[in-house]
Amino acid sequence: MVELRGKNAIVTGAAVGLGNAYAKALAEEGVNVALCDLRDEVHELKEQLEGLGVRAIAWQGDVSDPAHVRTVVDGAKSEFGSIDILINNAGVFGASVPDDDLDKSLGDYERIVGANLKGEYLFGRAVIPIMIDQGVGGEIVNIATDHMFTCGTPYDSCPKHDDCPWGDSPRPTGGGDAMDLYDASKWGLNGFLFGWAKALAPHNIRVNALCMGATDSWMLRSFHGHNPPQKEVDSWMKAEDNARVMIELLKEGSQGRNAQNINFCTGRPVALEAPHEHLYVVPETVRLGGEQ
Ligand SMILES: NC(=O)c1ccc[n+]([C@@H]2O[C@H](COP(=O)([O-])OP(=O)(O)OC[C@H]3O[C@@H](n4cnc5c(N)ncnc54)[C@H](O)[C@@H]3O)[C@@H](O)[C@H]2O)c1
Repeated sequence: MVELRGKNAIVTGAAVGLGNAYAKALAEEGVNVALCDLRDEVHELKEQLEGLGVRAIAWQGDVSDPAHVRTVVDGAKSEFGSIDILINNAGVFGASVPDDDLDKSLGDYERIVGANLKGEYLFGRAVIPIMIDQGVGGEIVNIATDHMFTCGTPYDSCPKHDDCPWGDSPRPTGGGDAMDLYDASKWGLNGFLFGWAKALAPHNIRVNALCMGATDSWMLRSFHGHNPPQKEVDSWMKAEDNARVMIELLKEGSQGRNAQNINFCTGRPVALEAPHEHLYVVPETVRLGGEQ
């Protein structure tokens, strides 16, 4: 297992929800963390992380804005000296349907695809040259959704766990009824997952994605007017559990899995499943060689 203490990370969308839990879990492992978010609570989180004994730095801004991304990435590099881990987490949900009016929909497109796909793309483009230049490997984790893996399309990739609450009939399609832009943005991440993993394997930089089902967060609570029924809350996964699994993933280091959409099915214990067989890449093309 790889020691994370002393490494340096960027977590996007860290003010609340899953990103907040990821940032805290990294700091508890002794990782210095650069944070960014639209919300000003990101500055409170910086102070909390410093209280855990690591260095932290925070910026308020939009991940779809290239100038903001430059500020965060260059600032993190200059403050910490290196960037070892990128957690591409910032994301938004917004209802959208195919017969939305074009003018209404353009705003949705910019907001949803901007945060969920363009933001991850921009952070990748800004961080990857730095990681390659450092020459010591690295970790990129993109935060996707179960709509692109768990019990969803592609149907054949459902792991069909014995304890799956959906029984023998996994949900045949990913996503919900008003999610075409959200799902398109998350499916788009597969292009970066596989493309980056192949290109970066020779540099010992791993790229994986976490594909969660319903996990307690500001976003999920907002679907219920921030007053969700307790029964609903009890069925959700906890962000802290997901963060613990992310730490386990990072600790695999260069001997670990690469180019994988990692599955978190609602209704099952939140645990790092065994690596699955590759469906979309030739395994040799994403195998890392050396030590980090
Ligand atoms: N919670 C779930 O059930 C769930 C399930 C699947 C995937 N996800 C994904 O997990 C990630 C985190 O979601 P969450 O549930 O914690 O949501 P959340 O709304 O609780 O937190 C998201 C954070 O990202 C920030 N953010 C949003 N757009 C941004 C932008 N353009 N620039 C900078 N910051 C921005 C928000 O301000 C917020 O702090 C998202 O990518 C989401 O799509 C969540």
